[in-house]
Amino acid sequence: MARILITSAIPYINGIKHLGNLVGSQLPADLHARYMRARGHEVLFLCATDEHGTPAELAAAKAGKPVADYCAEMWAVQKDLSDGFRLSFDQFGRSSSPQNHALTQHFAGRLAEAGLIDEVSERQVYSNADGRFLPDRYIEGTCPNCGYDKARGDQCENCTKQLDPTDLIEPRSAVSGSTDLEVRETKHLYLKQRSLRGELSDWIDSKTDWPVLTTSIAKKWLNDGDGLQDRGITRDLDWGIPVRKGSEPWPGMEDKVFYVWFDAPIEYIACAKEWSDARGADDWERWWRTDKGADDVRYVQFMGKDNVPFHTLSFPATIIGSGEPWKLVDYIKSFNYLNYDGGQFSTSQGRGIFMDQALEILPADYWRWWLLSHAPENSDSEFTWENFQASVNKDLADVLGNFVSRVTKFCRSKFGEEVPAGGAWGAEEAALIKKLQAGLAAYEAQMEAIEVRKAANELRALWVLGNEYLQTAAPWSVFKEDPERAAAQIRLALNLIRVYAVLSAPFIPDAAAKMLSAMNTLDTEWPDDMTAALSSLPEGHGFTVPDVLFAKISDEDREGWQAKFAGQNS
Ligand code: MF3
Ligand code: ZN
Repeated sequence: MARILITSAIPYINGIKHLGNLVGSQLPADLHARYMRARGHEVLFLCATDEHGTPAELAAAKAGKPVADYCAEMWAVQKDLSDGFRLSFDQFGRSSSPQNHALTQHFAGRLAEAGLIDEVSERQVYSNADGRFLPDRYIEGTCPNCGYDKARGDQCENCTKQLDPTDLIEPRSAVSGSTDLEVRETKHLYLKQRSLRGELSDWIDSKTDWPVLTTSIAKKWLNDGDGLQDRGITRDLDWGIPVRKGSEPWPGMEDKVFYVWFDAPIEYIACAKEWSDARGADDWERWWRTDKGADDVRYVQFMGKDNVPFHTLSFPATIIGSGEPWKLVDYIKSFNYLNYDGGQFSTSQGRGIFMDQALEILPADYWRWWLLSHAPENSDSEFTWENFQASVNKDLADVLGNFVSRVTKFCRSKFGEEVPAGGAWGAEEAALIKKLQAGLAAYEAQMEAIEVRKAANELRALWVLGNEYLQTAAPWSVFKEDPERAAAQIRLALNLIRVYAVLSAPFIPDAAAKMLSAMNTLDTEWPDDMTAALSSLPEGHGFTVPDVLFAKISDEDREGWQAKFAGQNS
């Protein structure tokens, strides 16, 4: 038995996530967590909301709420939706937690002691009316290049020219509209990542088993152009973690907070402490400190490709730079993007399907199965309603659902609602068991390797084997000549329902639970030995016929949803 720490990239607090976000980190992380638990490993699975930064402030302002209230509300909304999708986090934390405040300040203090922090003087725009420095995107004005009058301090949306706030003609505050702006000197903290370049590079080179997508992005940032840059880790915002050196004040930094990308990954650690504190325990360090037992933890992270540089370079720089024995990630699984019906999912444009909308239409398992079996691993992938309909109707309804329904209904009508006695298995059953055993090994191999699509294919292949057996064994015709033989066939098939429930649970946990409850068993033991597993429900064991596991999606439904969601395209 191993100990496995699993984190999913923590979603931004502002707004409900779309299915592209879900499949890029939280959902595959959940698949891995559920699988590893099912194999008997000790798992700690963590996620949280990413609550700081300008997007959170802007969203709160738009909602007309104090940012702390806004974040608390949105945390509850996101928590509810992750429960709805059956994401089995041990803790769904918050990057604004007291635990993260303390740890983030602790890391900054350690980095300063190690000489890895520079204080750099910068010239920055200050708004007298707002009484604050304005980040680039809080300043608006006329673009010197194209004359567009709503250009932002970092970029002109109209002509795409990258700008400095001081380039803008007639600059004004995006907060208040005030033009009473001046340029002031202000100090910021920089993490000297460049001096950690060698260590980071060696560490990444040692990860020869990482997916190409992960290492190629890491190496690009490490080696391209000027290579790894020192990174500003402070901002002039109100909302965030106040800049301190551990528990000491940081002279000159009184009105500043840490940059969101500095504190967000530290929440992975703080979240374990939140988990531990919530239980009145003190066992989080055995997951995170190699001097406290975490040296035999395997740590796996899940994220979209845009997050890779922060997890391969910036966060490891924080950890390594601290000089303390914190656990570094062992394996990073990253994902490409999921597109929506010929374009991109877009939060700002409300384009695509969002987590709340998805659950209003269909139960979580339908989405989990489609998303995971089409995970954007080797390239971007695309959601289309046709493809979704086809895969639900075929894989879930025709293959798995149909098997369960035929077997249980046939048994009820001929033998009653208990596992029938009599007869014996023959060559056909031996051949099936052999194929199931080989299929199981293939499924396990893909699950261990976190090859999500391939694992889904192997699972589907296992379901197909059951259907093929049923088709050729044809207990409904055998029954007329040799009811005992039919009983032996159905006994195997009923047991196979339990085996399918156990194997499928990481993908479709609700359907798996229904199958187990129909089979009237709590036995979730992994079918290491198929022959034994297929005798787990003994003769005479009672069961019930479950309701339809998966309803087919009609053309009418599909067209209706297609139209409904097309309305949001812009
Ligand atoms: N909120 C970021 C995103 O959605 C991910 C943060 S991951 C962490 O892209 F490492 F910073 F926590
Ligand atoms: Zn312009």
